[in-house]
Amino acid sequence: MNTLDDKTIVKDYFNATGFDRWRNIYGNGEVNKVQLDIRTGHQQTIDTVISWLKADGNLNQISVCDAGCGVGSLSIPLAQQGATVYASDISEKMVGEAKDRAIQVLGNNNKVSFAVQDLEKLTQPCHTVVCLDVLIHYPQSEALEMIEHLAALAQSRFIVSFAPKTLYLSMLKKVGEFFPGPSKTTRAYQHLEAEIIRILLDRGFHIERKGMTSTSFYYARILEAVRD
Ligand SMILES: C[S@@+](CC[C@H](N)C(=O)[O-])C[C@H]1O[C@@H](n2cnc3c(N)ncnc32)[C@H](O)[C@@H]1O
Repeated sequence: MNTLDDKTIVKDYFNATGFDRWRNIYGNGEVNKVQLDIRTGHQQTIDTVISWLKADGNLNQISVCDAGCGVGSLSIPLAQQGATVYASDISEKMVGEAKDRAIQVLGNNNKVSFAVQDLEKLTQPCHTVVCLDVLIHYPQSEALEMIEHLAALAQSRFIVSFAPKTLYLSMLKKVGEFFPGPSKTTRAYQHLEAEIIRILLDRGFHIERKGMTSTSFYYARILEAVRD
């Protein structure tokens, strides 16, 4: 079990070179072609999740935990829609950037509460728990433990995205290109959808919706699991 090592590597990466890289990708500034493709794909994933959440028409009545919130790409628009958002990330730098962006967009008194926190240390139950594009940094066994932990906090619904194992080779190759030099140690892992679904079914959820985002360099399976 090397969860701690994986987490340390990921945390250090997202507090250093990974922070600059992903802050740019998740922004509006100039990026290269491949990064632009990833930006577009990621935005499609965010849009899919927001459309699912909006469809229920109760966003202003629910609490949402955004685990591994990055720079707030999901948390900020959800707060704009009236949700009470608990946004957390293992990287202090990412949380700092998310806070700044939230203030710019929502003002100082906004409905996002930020924390620097490993998602497996989160304890606050929320109506909806979301975890987007985080599991890619962890091998299957660690990812499944994370899913178990987050699903237990979800009072009603759990939404997760991951790179499906079926695209293993192309994904590994392409994502690998984004981790040059020492940061190559931050590997990209793909996950078996069937195992993720099995865990969720065993814990009293059913799969309500499935989505898939694929651009040239970005692949994400999105699952919405709802308590039976
Ligand atoms: C690729 S980014 C995705 C950010 C965000 N979810 C989004 O879709 O915009 C991955 C994020 O997961 C965070 N992360 C990685 N491992 C984590 C953990 N164990 N607990 C909390 N956050 C984590 C990283 O710091 C990084 O901000």
